[in-house]
Amino acid sequence: QGVPGTNLERTFLAIKPDGVQRGLIGDIIARFEKRGYKLVGLKMVWPTLEMAENHYKDLSKKPFYPSLCKFFSSGPIVCMCWEGKDIIKQGRQMLGETQPLASNPGSIRGDYSIDLGRNICHGSDSPESAEHELKMWFPEGVSDWKKSVDSWVYE
Ligand code: TYD
Repeated sequence: QGVPGTNLERTFLAIKPDGVQRGLIGDIIARFEKRGYKLVGLKMVWPTLEMAENHYKDLSKKPFYPSLCKFFSSGPIVCMCWEGKDIIKQGRQMLGETQPLASNPGSIRGDYSIDLGRNICHGSDSPESAEHELKMWFPEGVSDWKKSVDSWVYE
């Protein structure tokens, strides 16, 4: 699904139900587009509880797991596949820290969130999790489209 360290590196980023309900979809997408990353996969999904549990499987022993899964399945999320150099690490940096209060202003969480359980967005934290999460949320695959600005502006 993408080659780490190259322009073809891909990650899975999601806007959680709070980010969707608060009208932050456009802002979040714009940040990555303006930086120069390419949105290659995009869809809105209302996860079932089972999908949420599967997505956060690694955290199943944590005390906050039930409430996290309930929250993640409480409304539609926006599933995105972003492509570009170092996007896995850069994506996490642009999201901010897990804890919004520890996130720098300028990051998504630092700009828009306060509570840990309402931190707006998700991003894969390694090449392995990016591959796993992209397969989980885009089982149909992600198309490999390219664009040259000129040909989409001038006939
Ligand atoms: P985690 O995978 O550790 O963080 P991240 O989203 O930054 O990769 O945790 C997943 C989500 O679980 C996190 O975004 C918010 C929530 N969470 C809690 O509700 N309580 C907690 O104590 C932690 C660590 C996370």
